[in-house]
Amino acid sequence: MEKKEREVEEEEQVVNPWEVSGKDGAKIDYDKLIDKFGCQRLDEPLVRLVERLTSRPAHVFLRRGVFFAHRDLNEILDCYERGQKFYLYTGRGPSSEALHLGHLVPFMFTKYLQDAFKVPLVIQLTDDEKCMWKNLTVEESHRLARENAKDIIACGFDITRTFIFSDFDYVGGAFYKNMVRVAKCVTFNKVVGIFGFTGEDHIGKISFPPVQAVPSFPSSFPHLFSDKSDLRCLIPCAIDQDPYFRMTRDVAPRIGHHKPALIESSFFPALQGESGKMSASDPNSAIYVTDSAKDIKNKVNRYAFSGGQDSIENHRKYGANLEVDIPFKYLSFFLDDDAELEHIRKEYGAGRMLTGEVKKRLIEVLTELVERHRKARAAVTDEMVDAFMAVRPLPHMFD
Ligand code: TRP
Repeated sequence: MEKKEREVEEEEQVVNPWEVSGKDGAKIDYDKLIDKFGCQRLDEPLVRLVERLTSRPAHVFLRRGVFFAHRDLNEILDCYERGQKFYLYTGRGPSSEALHLGHLVPFMFTKYLQDAFKVPLVIQLTDDEKCMWKNLTVEESHRLARENAKDIIACGFDITRTFIFSDFDYVGGAFYKNMVRVAKCVTFNKVVGIFGFTGEDHIGKISFPPVQAVPSFPSSFPHLFSDKSDLRCLIPCAIDQDPYFRMTRDVAPRIGHHKPALIESSFFPALQGESGKMSASDPNSAIYVTDSAKDIKNKVNRYAFSGGQDSIENHRKYGANLEVDIPFKYLSFFLDDDAELEHIRKEYGAGRMLTGEVKKRLIEVLTELVERHRKARAAVTDEMVDAFMAVRPLPHMFD
């Protein structure tokens, strides 16, 4: 009976590290997700607290609820207010050469957090994970990790506070000891419950979760935190990564660590609409950081799902349905100017503005963003990648 109920529920909406899909092709229900996962909603007072502690306006992604859920963010901020610093941990599974805009979201946000709180950051490149899940060779996923590191560095991270590592290169020593400590606390039944592994999955997958768990513990980075075993960790991530960190938080106190805090985002929707996150396998579902101005214009004009009405008369009469409109949604991620966004919301929502005009503005915004990223990435040399990835102390990481 219980199993049956779970199956019915899973048909409705699936969100896990490998699959994101809404019920019958509908939008993801984020309220439901918060309930199901047991995380907390990131509400207005918490956003105000972030602004007060950092003495700067909250990032667009916070102001507009892109990062909408958390675990113990209030606690880590209270500690920060009392003078206890923390470190940030985020990551990427290097599964493809080119990143799309959705991939940039957590890194843009993490860069803001690093600047605003002036704290160190570790970035995990799970080349091992993608090799096991995406059928890439060890060599290929290791190579992609370095390539993706260039895109990550292009987001503007501060080299004096940032350590980027590939699992293939870094796992060992203190990090591996922590992996074993975690592994001993997690039964097979437990990972089956959390991740849905089956007897057909290879044992690499089953043993992977500790790899993503242990960067949450400062003792995994003795070159950074050897004298700071009590340091807390804040993880910005998309909410599909929550299962890893539920497991981590469950284990943490048993092996003498704080539970990591989380700040979690919704998914950046596909051009075709909001039922899931963008798919790297359908090039027309996403805008890539490697797309040309012409590609961007074409994709937005041809594929961006419009909430506008089918005729101008109806549009003037009823206005656009902003709930499903992708051009408006994308602008709400990337158009910084609150007043302009509000203007578009009113005018487009009331039918005085047409889809074509909104798309035109979106094309400008995205072209500028992608062009800026392209330039920044072109400036990232192999020496810089080596420097970010060097196992080294960061003496000024809290200054
Ligand atoms: N599993 C993540 C992915 O596939 C990569 C990752 C590793 C990560 N550690 C993380 C993401 C911490 C967010 C936070 O992309």
